[in-house]
Amino acid sequence: MLRNLMYVVALLPLAAFTQPRTQLANPKMEASVSELMKKMTLEEKIGQLNLPASGDITTGTANSSNVAEQIKQGKVGGLFNIKTAAKIREVQKIAVEQSRLKIPLIFGMDVIHGYKTVFPVPLALSASWDLALIEKSARIAAQEASADGICWTFSPMVDIARDPRWGRVVEGSGEDPYLGSQIAAAMIKGYQGDDLSSNNTILACVKHFALYGAAEAGRDYNTTDMSRIRMYNEYLPPYKAAVDAGAGSVMSSFNEVDGIPAAANRWLMTDLLRKQWGFKGFVVTDYTAISEMISHGMGDLKQVSQLALKAGIDMDMVADGFLNTLKKPLEEGKITVAEIDAACRRILEAKYCLGLFDDPYRYCDPQRAGKEVFTTENRQVARQTAAQTFVLLKNDNQLLPIQGKNKIALVGPLADNGENMTGTWSVAADFANSVSLLDGLKTALGDNADLLYAKGSNVVDDSALDARVSIFGKPTRWDKRSPKEMIDEAVAISPNWSLVVAAVGESAEMTGESSSRSDIGLPGNQQALLEALLATGKPVVMVLFTGRPLTIAWENEHVPAILNVWFGGTEAGNAIADVLMGKVNPSGKLSMTFPRSMGQIPIYYNHKNTGRPLAQGKWFQKFRSNYLDIPNDPLYPFGYGLSYTTFDYKNLQLSGRELNSARKLKVSVEVSNTGNYDGAEVVQLYIRDLVGSITRPVKELKGFQKIFLKKGETKTVEFTLTEKELRFYNSQLQFVSEPGDFQVFVGSSSEKWLQGNFTLK
Ligand code: NOJ
Repeated sequence: MLRNLMYVVALLPLAAFTQPRTQLANPKMEASVSELMKKMTLEEKIGQLNLPASGDITTGTANSSNVAEQIKQGKVGGLFNIKTAAKIREVQKIAVEQSRLKIPLIFGMDVIHGYKTVFPVPLALSASWDLALIEKSARIAAQEASADGICWTFSPMVDIARDPRWGRVVEGSGEDPYLGSQIAAAMIKGYQGDDLSSNNTILACVKHFALYGAAEAGRDYNTTDMSRIRMYNEYLPPYKAAVDAGAGSVMSSFNEVDGIPAAANRWLMTDLLRKQWGFKGFVVTDYTAISEMISHGMGDLKQVSQLALKAGIDMDMVADGFLNTLKKPLEEGKITVAEIDAACRRILEAKYCLGLFDDPYRYCDPQRAGKEVFTTENRQVARQTAAQTFVLLKNDNQLLPIQGKNKIALVGPLADNGENMTGTWSVAADFANSVSLLDGLKTALGDNADLLYAKGSNVVDDSALDARVSIFGKPTRWDKRSPKEMIDEAVAISPNWSLVVAAVGESAEMTGESSSRSDIGLPGNQQALLEALLATGKPVVMVLFTGRPLTIAWENEHVPAILNVWFGGTEAGNAIADVLMGKVNPSGKLSMTFPRSMGQIPIYYNHKNTGRPLAQGKWFQKFRSNYLDIPNDPLYPFGYGLSYTTFDYKNLQLSGRELNSARKLKVSVEVSNTGNYDGAEVVQLYIRDLVGSITRPVKELKGFQKIFLKKGETKTVEFTLTEKELRFYNSQLQFVSEPGDFQVFVGSSSEKWLQGNFTLK
């Protein structure tokens, strides 16, 4: 039944979106930029649109580098992934002393989960469901990066991802648009603070706009294609949330959207981003995305550069397309000076907002780095944060935390590997300082600890694959011994253990860019290692290092305790020890579903019901939507995560049965800590819209609260639902709520809840 009544909130093109805080109308800035632009030649304007590779600047002296000449000629707008205040000062000096108009450069970097103090990878951070902590991690990242010369970060990545084969799921916040939006806003706030011109805040760049996470078959850079309904309701919200939170820049994605690569997609960059969402910052392409459009089949470099500018791209990362080809289409009348001016103005405005015109060395204070980077306090926050991101997947017979005196055998290819703890994109990390699990446990257990160690297996068996996944300064230290020899060595020490901790999983670079996997099980010989360890009859705790959901159904069936620790950053080893030893009670919850098997992918909790849903409690029914050989349900659902204690939910109360645009609904539940430890719990609220003018998901997250309960304590947790939370984009792409019946679920995961009902009038 279609609804004939609905709250039409906004016809999209007319939508009144909040103006980004960084880009509020600023007449002084406009006048100053206009003044400068009057003096600029066409070449100098195009130069501002150019973000070349840093080339030999990273290794050599700035002045003799290959880009120095271009900087002097005013052909460079900014540079990225070079570091240290001293080096950046040296390069900035060329721009402000040797170029005609002395326009400062903007310096960017992929600071995506901390700078030198590395925080857990973004997917892990999202599993903390702790917005304040996530914001703080971004704040510290900004503080450290800005102390080292950086004023612009290519973060947050907010791409919704439902296919764990895609390696870049590690860089985002998982599968949910609501959680993803909240995190996007928190990170923007953390990076940009309240005042972008302050020397310890940096410009954020939300990426990859748009739909990059929907790459077909989970293969990086692959084609995406989806309906507008799915786009608006499921994939776009986090980008929009970041724009609403004031993100000063946006990065275009590599993929196509509706058959047009994002970097040439005018609908995306101009109609949606600027006209509908009111974005006032600048758009940079991803790395060589303009020249890559030649391979997409969009024309030669001149043609694709012209398309990109027309679409609304302001800055060309590395392709040299804008720099070298824009003049010709201008002469031919295919682009206009006004379009070049608009792009140039946006980049100059960003520099203005960062305070670079007042002081181009604002982020190059040589004293700051020594005092503000990699401080004891920052490392302490990183350690606390990491512990909040770990997800306890299984804990039979309360094997964890480790009780009393144990002789612990630490076995596994990731036990003694500090470098890999930092995860992908840890550009500024000092690997020598990151704490391995072996070191963390040694410190926790003290000098007299009974701690034995054996590697047990390599991460992967194939040495060629190993070379591909042990890059960027993160070696896996491939052991040439046969798998059997390594297992034998590990098992040989078994008479001396009372407990084994198996540090297994992926290497850091098995996720990240260009790191898609076709089989997301535990790699190499690691399952065989676990089998051998279990065969000794000693209790085994599996500590899982991963940047994506893995298919670990076998492990779940056989290993009594599994703690998923992702890649926890600089302090990973200490944080894992904190949790294993019970100093911290784990409270992370999955932000991405763990499938049982590869065949279930894509699998996500907020799916549609279909016309032939499987009956509750069944796993196969003929002519229903299911598989012959596996159940539909995942191994671990979205929102799932155990604690050392137990939480009991009762007494779900709704303040009424009806809700309307004026009347809110209060939803409350009593949560009790019924176990033996103090602990934190993420209380989650989902809704289901039972009848709609378009089909609606079986569940949608609409609220969450992370609470702390002492042992034996009970708290009443209250949520407020308004008509706003019930809105969605209908088939005319109007953002509406539709009167009718809803279900509300409050619980500890997307699959464990208490249920109530209400009606939107
Ligand atoms: C390519 C990646 O896709 C993007 O995320 C990153 O920011 C740029 N390279 C710059 O390093």
